[in-house]
Amino acid sequence: MRMSWFGLVAAVCGSLASIACSKAEVSYAKAVQPFLDKHCSACHKPGGDGYEKSGFATTSYDNVMKGTKFGPVVVAGHSPSSSLMILVEGKADPAINMPHGQQKLPEADVKLLKAWVDQGAKNN
Ligand code: HEC
Repeated sequence: MRMSWFGLVAAVCGSLASIACSKAEVSYAKAVQPFLDKHCSACHKPGGDGYEKSGFATTSYDNVMKGTKFGPVVVAGHSPSSSLMILVEGKADPAINMPHGQQKLPEADVKLLKAWVDQGAKNN
């Protein structure tokens, strides 16, 4: 009985590794902005297709938190409700997953982004 409870905790811990089991804080400036600039900002800046269609710019913290013309895409502290994560993790309709028509994002980068959201989406 005791063993199976322990096993359950370990399993949950594994799946939430970046949140509950690691205290390393993800820095917006050092990790998130470079990721966005590499994978998103070419389209998500004024004049880019993504920005012109959705209003979402990935060029600064303020822009990212502002979201699209329809509202925020980051829910600080809760990645499952953040449409940013749903798109980036490829859980949305294939037609709208980001980045458009490009190869899948490196898993490690997606995890960092998710950890940043779950740690409160701070401007750190
Ligand atoms: C090749 C161009 C391109 C790249 C690269 C790109 N996007 Fe987009 N993005 C678009 C376009 C175009 C739209 C407009 C809506 C659509 O067509 O789905 C959009 C829309 C969005 C939206 C709004 C979706 C909505 O619900 O309205 C978000 C959020 C988004 N992109 C995030 C990202 C992120 C994060 C990245 C980087 C991982 C990224 N995009 C990379 C072109 C791009």
